[in-house]
Amino acid sequence: MTDLAYTDAVAKETAPIFNLLKDQYDEEYWATIAPYIFEINTLKKEKNAVILAHNYMTPDIFHGVADIVGDSLALAREAAKTDADIIVQCGVHFMAETSKILCMDKKVLIPDLKAGCSLAESITAADVRLLREKYPGVPIVTYVNTSAEVKAESDICCTSGNAIKIVNGLDSDEVLMIPDKYLAQYTQGHTSKKILTWEGSCEVHERFTADDIHQFRARYEGVVVIAHPECPPEVLAEADFTGSTQQMIEYVEGKKPDRVVLITECSMSDNIAAVHPEMELVRPCQMCPHMKRITLPKILEALKTEQPEVVIDPELAKRALIPVNKMLEMS
Ligand code: 13P
Ligand code: SF4
Repeated sequence: MTDLAYTDAVAKETAPIFNLLKDQYDEEYWATIAPYIFEINTLKKEKNAVILAHNYMTPDIFHGVADIVGDSLALAREAAKTDADIIVQCGVHFMAETSKILCMDKKVLIPDLKAGCSLAESITAADVRLLREKYPGVPIVTYVNTSAEVKAESDICCTSGNAIKIVNGLDSDEVLMIPDKYLAQYTQGHTSKKILTWEGSCEVHERFTADDIHQFRARYEGVVVIAHPECPPEVLAEADFTGSTQQMIEYVEGKKPDRVVLITECSMSDNIAAVHPEMELVRPCQMCPHMKRITLPKILEALKTEQPEVVIDPELAKRALIPVNKMLEMS
């Protein structure tokens, strides 16, 4: 995997990280990735770069090189206040765009421009304009998992962590929540407002079924089931707790269940297991192929070349910033 050397200095510097991750990576494999971790951490300091990593990043990234980890909301908040010159977004494209919208004066890099999202792909700006024509006066709440063009046509953004709060805070009895039909259905269960939605879904979370949960409960006695709101309603109906990726982590760290299953992307459990060896994490693996495009070699290359850079037309960014800022103010 690497042409970088696993020197004594690299081994010494990365030993605390290996110690955390030794249940996940054997020594032979570690020797191939530790030089990347070392190089990335050296280079990011030299360049005054910050690495913002989503909770779905693999443990080598999450625990090895990230400066800030979190859900979409936390990463947006951090992007808004960073004083770094360069942001390296380890996540998918819409997350890097959100950072760029919030920091047009900074260089925002994404290690792989092809890291997309099925939700962001499901709707265009033209679709939103048509919805506005069809439902005049109805506020449009747009999930951050969308392009800058779609955000620019929206009234306010939301994430899975603040969707209920945002919808309930709007001065309207009817709300259009786009593009995730499942997040909209979940929110409908927590508001008296009428929610209209769009036919979008997450290709990862929609694969979970209520039967999966029944089987986990049958096989793992006492298991606590926590799920992401992008899951279908029949899955959420079976869960003990529903929340954003960050809220899931906070729930687990607060309640400290002996046995838990996270109904979400695979790396979440790996990242929690590294710091909570006392907890039994049942690991159903549904992988997000887009998140998994982000790797250590690509992060190093991005830092070295300062490419690929996320570029947004300044006029578009100005329009997209309005709903993003409204969300940050309300949450
Ligand atoms: P969170 O904001 O909960 O981290 O969700 C982002 C995402 O893409 C989940 O699939
Ligand atoms: Fe998009 Fe789903 Fe992947 Fe999240 S897990 S980035 S919603 S495809």
